Amino acid sequence: MGHRVGYFIGSLSSTSINRILATALIRLAPDDLEFFEIQIRDLPLYSQDYDDAYPPEAVVLKEAIDSADAVLFVTPEYNRSIPGGLKNAIDWASRPWGQNSFDHIPAAVIGASVGQIGTAVAQQSLRGVLSFCNARQMTAPEAYIRFTPEHYEKDGTVSDPGTEAFLRAFMTEFHDHIERVLTVLPRETDG
Ligand code: FNR
Repeated sequence: MGHRVGYFIGSLSSTSINRILATALIRLAPDDLEFFEIQIRDLPLYSQDYDDAYPPEAVVLKEAIDSADAVLFVTPEYNRSIPGGLKNAIDWASRPWGQNSFDHIPAAVIGASVGQIGTAVAQQSLRGVLSFCNARQMTAPEAYIRFTPEHYEKDGTVSDPGTEAFLRAFMTEFHDHIERVLTVLPRETDG
């Protein structure tokens, strides 16, 4: 049986290297994973004042996560953490209290940076947030990608064989992680 994976791109940049990485990951993923982007760009800044009446953008966000079997975060590192726009989206999805959209959801984290540590610090920060949100994270393999533009085409083709094999293995492991989690924690995505 196939699974629907909602993916978050932490960057709003029109030239995002993380968007290119996501395109590559989707190309290299096992065939029975189907992907759709969960948009974060148009969300207002979260406040508890909205908890009684979420705006349409936030309702769409929560419905998108609810319809997914798993979520994948592909994010840059901003100032040794995740971009504020991504944190804002997670805050929306985690609320109102008692309606946390990430509860028990299979999740994976990956990111690309132009720097040597390849978003490692941002990913650790994100893992802490997702842990509190009770997402079922894939703990290994970790993937801290130092982005080398010459190895990626815009359509997601990866020309470097070592990088391609690593990313393919990451997505295969994520597929297996999703299946394991859903075996004990099935998603109610039909209703
Ligand atoms: C960065 N960048 C960056 N890189 C890094 O490795 N660690 C960091 O802490 C930061 N901090 C940071 C802050 C801000 C505000 C910006 C705009 C950039 C550089 C970052 O890796 C680079 O801009 C990437 O291209 C961002 O990813 P996207 O947007 O291209 O996907």
